[in-house]
Amino acid sequence: RRQLQTSLIELNTRAMHFYREQLKRHPRAIDYLKRRGLSGQIAARFGLGYAPDGWHPLADCFSDYASNPQLGEVGLVIDNADSGRRYDRFRDRVLFPILDGKGQVIGFGGRIIDQGEPKYLNSPETPLFQKGLELYGLPQARAAIRARNRVLVVEGYMDVVALAQLGVEYAVATLGTACTPEHVKKLMRLADQVVFSFDGDRAGRKAAWRALENSLALASDGKTLSFLFLPAEHDPDSYIREFGREAFEALIDNEALGLVAFLCRELAAQVDLSTEEGKAKLLFLAKPLVEQIRAPALGVLLRKKLAEMAGLNAAEVSQLLGGTS
Ligand code: GTP
Ligand code: MN
Ligand code: MN
Ligand code: MN
Ligand code: MN
Repeated sequence: RRQLQTSLIELNTRAMHFYREQLKRHPRAIDYLKRRGLSGQIAARFGLGYAPDGWHPLADCFSDYASNPQLGEVGLVIDNADSGRRYDRFRDRVLFPILDGKGQVIGFGGRIIDQGEPKYLNSPETPLFQKGLELYGLPQARAAIRARNRVLVVEGYMDVVALAQLGVEYAVATLGTACTPEHVKKLMRLADQVVFSFDGDRAGRKAAWRALENSLALASDGKTLSFLFLPAEHDPDSYIREFGREAFEALIDNEALGLVAFLCRELAAQVDLSTEEGKAKLLFLAKPLVEQIRAPALGVLLRKKLAEMAGLNAAEVSQLLGGTS
């Protein structure tokens, strides 16, 4: 199994070098990255490449293209079951190699140039590449995360690369999936301050709530988890490009909501706190969330806040929600 994974990593590594070479030869792809504000230096730092158009450009890179079953397993090629034909998965896309924590190439994300569907195409899940575990950009961000004792979690490849281009080097991305408990565990080991900054759109807000739900049981009194909400039309890439690094980092420092504040704001939005029924519903909705919190002080502070919102005293709330406050 270990040996199999090693050879899959070798195939990906070889493909990454091929795609990087192809980027140099395809001005259309270079222009696209330039239009997105990326320099050659940052493209090199993230190993960005280009998968040429055509059905099997990768055959130039693998002499056993037609017969090697592992090319299919790792998802570099697609085998059509009906025709028996094999062709490249990534065609005419800018490629973001996905590295694991050790810097090994475990997969790729491919963005279409300009418009088209699907906008991103990713390597399939394999034993090598499990989206719920990996953080895009981690090897490149690790030193800055350590130096700042802060890790910023964003949604997209382009967010990570654009942030790094503009000097925010401590960002990583979940790979288009929800932020899982395993992601949160990893993030909390990396730094004392974990900041989630998803897109300002509805999907991003939903992703933030999922991240909160998956963080409750893992939150610790010695760490801060916070949530930065961008204006609806922005993601971190577009925001930092429009307003600059200082403005973006000021947002993190001044506008990010802590876990308690985010939770309370979200629940408050779902009920009418001017009525007894609304206050009851607040506590009803809060109960299963509060019960997951294991950080003692955070638990007490959350109960206290909920008590204030519901107009109850601490003893009444702890009777309802459990715990000692
Ligand atoms: P740009 O449009 O290039 O700025 O990308 P983005 O990262 O802002 O895209 P978006 O906010 O729409 O999506 C966030 C992340 O979700 C992307 O980086 C991808 O990882 C993933 N994603 C977006 N669109 C698709 C898609 O069509 N298919 C798949 N599999 N993943 C996607
Ligand atoms: Mn070509
Ligand atoms: Mn989005
Ligand atoms: Mn974007
Ligand atoms: Mn986005």
